[in-house]
Amino acid sequence: MLVLRNLGDEDVVLMKKWLEQEFISKWFGDASDWLLEIEHRNDEFNFIKHFIVEKDGVPVGFCQYYDWNKAMDDDGEPEGTCGIDYMIGEESLLGKGYGKNIVRLICDKVIENRPDTVQIIADPSVEEEKINIPSIKVLEANEFQYDPKTELYKKQLNV
Ligand SMILES: CC(C)(COP(=O)(O)OP(=O)(O)OC[C@H]1O[C@@H](n2cnc3c(N)ncnc32)[C@H](O)[C@@H]1OP(=O)(O)O)[C@@H](O)C(=O)NCCC(=O)NCCS
Repeated sequence: MLVLRNLGDEDVVLMKKWLEQEFISKWFGDASDWLLEIEHRNDEFNFIKHFIVEKDGVPVGFCQYYDWNKAMDDDGEPEGTCGIDYMIGEESLLGKGYGKNIVRLICDKVIENRPDTVQIIADPSVEEEKINIPSIKVLEANEFQYDPKTELYKKQLNV
């Protein structure tokens, strides 16, 4: 069973190792940007909530949610929008269905911690020449729908 726990200082070394792997940096970009946000998660970036995914007590991945309108320039999304990001840290654990579970867990965390959330957004790469199919599939399995206008995947919540 997968569970989420808050990311702590002791997880930074592992996060760096995970983020520097090609199968992750390909989608996440520069590890240093993510590590800076983690380092400043209690001040400048306190609108992002970071979690380690554990399986039987062993870290296997990472996910986060954040206040969309604090992270993006005013792009027309309503108040009460949360963004999410997620990854499996170990390449050997891809393709086992963990991704679907992680997206479900981070959505549950948003609903539990921020019950006034109206929608959850994810931003997988959708360009034809660089499309993140596994990410899109795990979102669709969690009832996210593609919005062609914004090129984002969105899950509406009934509040
Ligand atoms: C995205 C991620 C979390 C998905 O997790 P996962 O558990 O490994 O997902 P899976 O490999 O089981 O793939 C999910 C689905 O995509 C399908 N899939 C995977 N690669 C595919 C490909 N190249 N072509 C077509 N389908 C593919 C799988 O068959 C599966 O389909 P199913 O649900 O019908 O069985 C994981 O790939 C990951 O951590 N990637 C790196 C970081 C990342 O991209 N994060 C998201 C950024 S938006």
